[in-house]
Amino acid sequence: MRFDVLTIFPEVIESYISVSILKRAIQKGIIDVRVHNIRDYTTDKHRQVDDYPYGGGAGMVFKPEPLFNAIESLSRDGIKRHRILTSPGGRVFTQDVASEFAREHGAIMIVCGRYEGVDERVKVLIDEEISIGDYVLTGGELASLVIIDAVCRLLPGVLGDETSSEEESFSTGLLEYPQYTRPAEYRGMRVPEVLLSGNHQMIRRWRRKEALRKTLKQRPDLLEKAALTDEDKILLQEIKEEERWMQ
Ligand code: ADE
Repeated sequence: MRFDVLTIFPEVIESYISVSILKRAIQKGIIDVRVHNIRDYTTDKHRQVDDYPYGGGAGMVFKPEPLFNAIESLSRDGIKRHRILTSPGGRVFTQDVASEFAREHGAIMIVCGRYEGVDERVKVLIDEEISIGDYVLTGGELASLVIIDAVCRLLPGVLGDETSSEEESFSTGLLEYPQYTRPAEYRGMRVPEVLLSGNHQMIRRWRRKEALRKTLKQRPDLLEKAALTDEDKILLQEIKEEERWMQ
């Protein structure tokens, strides 16, 4: 999958993609990330990318010319890209959106917004605006990395174990069950006995129950949307009774 990132801070993007799983995905040829400096598409001596807002007010606005030049110049290679602008006002990025991008787009262009905004006319070249959450960042670089990271790990061959991205939080609709590794006792805290038992049926039931317990406690909103089985409903009942005893 191909990503083209347009930014005035290319080093931020380069730095993150040059380590760990993204680095390996690039080496394996599963993703190709090209970073483009928007300043290279300015035509003035000062390589200026922003200017004062018409009508007054605080902050600066991304000028249209460098962005039009950059987007049009990149698009000349004929690759069909889904064009995204990062913005706190966009569609909220979730695991479902990450899956949609991984499934539906062979190439994505991400324009990293900056300053107080981007000249509205640039949006004629954009397919959609994406927000990574209801808070305001100083720029779109972190947002673009979040999108690339979340989409990349869904692509076949990126994670070692093909099932690991399918079983995890959000794809099952629940938060993940607690995980433990050796030692079996650490500072007086023991790993739950059931996990040492080797009884796979009991382990599966325990994990499902703890995933339900965690979701009920921390993200009850997710439970309303999750597809719950009859067993889940029994487990939830048990959890609610246990929690009542604890109080
Ligand atoms: N730019 C500033 N804040 C942002 C957000 N929450 N998501 C995406 N881009 C942004």
